[in-house]
Amino acid sequence: MSKFYITTPIYYVNDEPHIGHAYTTILADVLSRYHREAGDDVFFLTGTDEHGQKVYQAAQERGIDPKRHCDETVVRFKELWEKLHIRYDYFIRTTDEYHKEVVKAILIDIYEKGDIYFDEYSGHYCVGCERFYTEKELLDGKCPQHKKNLNVITEKNYFFKMSRYQQQLIDYIHENPKFIQPDFRRNEVLGFLRQPLEDLCISRPKTRLTWGIELPFDADYVTYVWFDALINYVSAIGATKDKKQFEKWWPAEFHLIGKDILTTHCVYWPTMLFAAGIPLPRTIFAHGWWLSGDFKMSKSLGNVVKPLDLIDQYGVDPVRYFLMRDMVLGQDSNFSIEAFVRRYNSDLANDLGNLVGRICTLITRHFDGKIPQVGDVSEGDDELRSHGERIGGVVKNLIENMRVNKVVEETLQFIRAINKYMETNQPWKLVKEDKNKAGTVLYYAAESLRLGLQLLHPIMPSRTKKMMEMIGVKATDYADQTWGKLKSGAKLGQFEAPFPRIETKKEPISIDKKPTEEITMIDNKISFQDFSKVQLKTAKVLKAEKVEGADRLLKIQIKVGDEERQIVAGIAEHYSPEDLVGKLIVVVMNLEPATIRGVESNGMLLAGTADNKVVLVTMDDPTIQSGVRIS
Ligand code: MSP
Repeated sequence: MSKFYITTPIYYVNDEPHIGHAYTTILADVLSRYHREAGDDVFFLTGTDEHGQKVYQAAQERGIDPKRHCDETVVRFKELWEKLHIRYDYFIRTTDEYHKEVVKAILIDIYEKGDIYFDEYSGHYCVGCERFYTEKELLDGKCPQHKKNLNVITEKNYFFKMSRYQQQLIDYIHENPKFIQPDFRRNEVLGFLRQPLEDLCISRPKTRLTWGIELPFDADYVTYVWFDALINYVSAIGATKDKKQFEKWWPAEFHLIGKDILTTHCVYWPTMLFAAGIPLPRTIFAHGWWLSGDFKMSKSLGNVVKPLDLIDQYGVDPVRYFLMRDMVLGQDSNFSIEAFVRRYNSDLANDLGNLVGRICTLITRHFDGKIPQVGDVSEGDDELRSHGERIGGVVKNLIENMRVNKVVEETLQFIRAINKYMETNQPWKLVKEDKNKAGTVLYYAAESLRLGLQLLHPIMPSRTKKMMEMIGVKATDYADQTWGKLKSGAKLGQFEAPFPRIETKKEPISIDKKPTEEITMIDNKISFQDFSKVQLKTAKVLKAEKVEGADRLLKIQIKVGDEERQIVAGIAEHYSPEDLVGKLIVVVMNLEPATIRGVESNGMLLAGTADNKVVLVTMDDPTIQSGVRIS
């Protein structure tokens, strides 16, 4: 049995939780459940980030004391986690007394080691991000995340000598390729570290902000919110009070984060740990964002989708399923109600729900509602069984590689294989000719379904449990992956359609987003508005290589502004990988991600074909950089 310590970011309590928060927490929950069910000793941490200017301002706007504001908002997070069936082991709040103690202890330790000094500083401060930006980090003079003008603040503060650890961090990242994942995020951090690293301002004068942990060596200052927040990952497991407990869990296997908090986690946090003499977490994994149209869905941009609305209408499990199935971990994904309904109807209502319904109806009708006996076995039965015996290993491997969407896809493939097996054997006809054989077929289908449901259990804990009960499986048999655990003679439970189809004609749910309109064609022409939905941008080719076993395909890493992506293109017969590197090409950015020959592709390049020759659309004017929108 191995231990598995996983964390989510701790969420700011300046506002209500939204789908971005829900996504990370569900992901952590799903991974924890897979590990728990595989027999690992799991510690799953989540919580709230309660200090800093942003939270203080939110409290002020409500005209209440910041602690009261936190106490009230934290309840919303906890309620949502309950509603989403999140099984965390500990919920930390940065206003907890013990957390404050640990922050102070680490500050004193680093201060005494000479890694903290006092100086005057001037910088652009973004309250949304709760951090200073240097001139070169700004985009057109604005915050790169929130696109807002920033105030320049000049004040005396305490600084952490982060620059001292720059080389150590670069070496560490090179020596530990799993430390920052996915790989393109590691390259992004290494890219950032190519510039000289500045020291980190870790205090705020009380004259400007009182809401924070007081510095243990200067009562006129409070601790910078990120320096305080990152420490939650060690204070939650008793960093200073329980050595045994701390060493049992630390280092964490995974810090799950969104891509917007990469620098704080992959630069601030490891250098803080270096200074404090604490080992680094094993992997920091940055996932992409759920996007709605062209925007990130966050409160500061004002287009939030309320996950609770979806849950109330369709249930928790379908929402968990959709979020896990439709995001390729690491990349951005588009969120739309239409996509949710499509996914629900095809995977859950059709493939899974109908299978459960069919098996239960046939067993009830012809076998007195009891799991039939197994008679002679044919080749087709064996094939299904060996697929069922293989799938657990496949899923385990995918989970270890953080390919959660693939886990769902593979498991659903297995569910489809069971449906196909039913179609081929037609037990509803067979029962009239050879009841024993029909019984065997239904046993094989039901036992395979049990294995499939078990693999979906971490994603949809409550509905899979219900479906298990419908096919006569007891809770104690859930985690058993061996074939044959379904007992002949076991009585089926009460049947209830697990995923009633969603009628698509009526508006499925009202949220603050208009449904995407259909493209209208008049005389084969589209409107300018429709055309402008296609997002074209220039992209620099960083790397290209052949896709194994596919002569025509190249896997290409591109940089679009600050973002790195991977695309797959069928141009290997016309361009060698070396020809491509350095080229400025044009890419369709908002194409649905696809998996081509097992390789993920997130976008499409533009090229023209003449006389069987493919020529890429490139830009060769030096004033055009990568990330420029083409219109
Ligand atoms: N308090 C800091 C984290 C400190 S961790 C020591 C913070 N909080 S946050 O509430 O603003 O965001 C928390 C997480 O939610 C981030 O990982 C962020 O990426 C994620 N998301 C917010 N909106 C999102 C989407 N629309 N999609 C996916 N995740 C996004 O940052």
